[in-house]
Amino acid sequence: MESIALTPTWKVLQQHKLDLSRVHLRDLFLNDPKRYDRFSLEHDGFLLDFSKNRITQATLLLLLQLAETAEVKLRSFEMFSGDKINITEKRAVLHSALRHVNHAPIFLDHHNLMLDIQQVWQQMRQISEKIRHQKWLGFSGKPINTIVNLGIGGSDLGPKMVTYALEHLAPENLHCHFVSNVDGTAIARTLKQCNPETTLFMISSKSFSTIETLSNALAAKAWLLAHTDEKSVAKHFLAITAKSEKARAWGIAAENILPLWDWVGGRYSLWSAIGLPVAIMCGMEVFQELLAGAHAMDEHFKTTELTKNLPVMLALMGVWNHNFLHMPSNAILPYCEALKYFPDHLQQVDMESNGKSVDILGREIVDYQTGPIIWGSTGTNGQHSFHQLLHQGTAKVWCDFILPIKPIDDFGDHHALLTANCFAQSQALMQGKSLAETYEELLSQGVEHDAAAILAEHKMSSGNKSSNTLLFPKLTPYYLGGLIALYEHKIFTQGVIWQVNSFDQWGVELGKVLANQLLPAVKGQSVEGLDASTAGLVKAVLR
Ligand code: F6P
Repeated sequence: MESIALTPTWKVLQQHKLDLSRVHLRDLFLNDPKRYDRFSLEHDGFLLDFSKNRITQATLLLLLQLAETAEVKLRSFEMFSGDKINITEKRAVLHSALRHVNHAPIFLDHHNLMLDIQQVWQQMRQISEKIRHQKWLGFSGKPINTIVNLGIGGSDLGPKMVTYALEHLAPENLHCHFVSNVDGTAIARTLKQCNPETTLFMISSKSFSTIETLSNALAAKAWLLAHTDEKSVAKHFLAITAKSEKARAWGIAAENILPLWDWVGGRYSLWSAIGLPVAIMCGMEVFQELLAGAHAMDEHFKTTELTKNLPVMLALMGVWNHNFLHMPSNAILPYCEALKYFPDHLQQVDMESNGKSVDILGREIVDYQTGPIIWGSTGTNGQHSFHQLLHQGTAKVWCDFILPIKPIDDFGDHHALLTANCFAQSQALMQGKSLAETYEELLSQGVEHDAAAILAEHKMSSGNKSSNTLLFPKLTPYYLGGLIALYEHKIFTQGVIWQVNSFDQWGVELGKVLANQLLPAVKGQSVEGLDASTAGLVKAVLR
């Protein structure tokens, strides 16, 4: 396999980028009234407008050719078929099986995974209904009304994002908290809001060895035991893990352990029993709808030709902006308060998947960029914060605007205002405002010539800034599932093009190892061989 950057298509794209360097998006729109029709796609309620990217028809054809060269279709077939594409961990990547709501068998090593998955759905249904119907009683006989998810990374971000997004579907007498950080303030502030008699803790950890989660679990257990005795632990703790023996050794009752498997990556585990907070808060039907939406997107990604494929198109726009137009940063901007945690979730899925500098053959990647920096927050809040940099800063960023067409809560003009602001931002980024236009405007407002000339420099906006806009009918569980899966497949497609293993995360391991090594030093035991900076910091803390 030759490096993607050595392929003829990559080289033609590099030249093509130079040819386009003087072209402004404003002119591309002026010269082509059909640009939106040409560069937008619709599928099952989703609409992706990618016309505000600095592309022409030729760019698109070349990018599609790049996807062909990288064999995106073949690689996706391998993923869906259970090939062990996570080669460094020798694992299949089958989170799509978790949302196989049509129940058709999926075999891995001659075993039908759907049998295990259906069993877990059953277990999730029983647990969630027991809690929702106030039949899960705490040590004093009162029904559980508060759940606390103890997990971090993929065992926190996904369920937290979805639970928040669908909060309007949860009953008012059920409460849910997420504790991830090992900073004691996280668990302390949460426990202050809980009653030990009515709180159920869920230890969500695929490995059941993540130090943050286990520390928080111990703190929660100590808090509970200050109010009751050891045998009550079974009523107040459950675990979701691939290591059931460790959970049992910790003290979790066997019937309170929900399994997860090595073919589910942590950052893709929302679809497994790790999604239990969603089922408890919103009901198992809602969770199944979420899965159905994701499954529909899987089918679209799997079966639709590249030219009409939403995740592929979003991925190609990213590759173009990042690798050829040299923008290192992608802002995710949901114009939807309920999607507040969506950028955080995507940040892990994208950056942990494609933040790699070695290719699938173990060669160092030196001549092209892989995963971009993913960040963002909800609109319109960002407009009064970092959007200034998007419009007039020197950093190069492309934006994904995400907007449900109908609101969850309809208050007067709120949704019209939200929509107008969303579209205005991408329009302003695309068009900008020229120096001449700004200058003329200032003159017409009565500003003196000299002052207008100076002020115009500050007020003008270059425009020509790339963005995608993604619309869908409403933030229902179905569309939320589809939205998350759309981005998952975008990330997969980019990983294939960049020739990386998107499913391991060795980089985060070093920090974990060093933290364990440093713990004795921070606790005051002398540790040899520390670098001067770390030793200085440790001494300062001990002082
Ligand atoms: O820190 C990396 C990571 O392994 C993530 O990939 C994962 O989501 C998170 O830690 C939590 O892991 P676990 O579910 O095993 O506690």
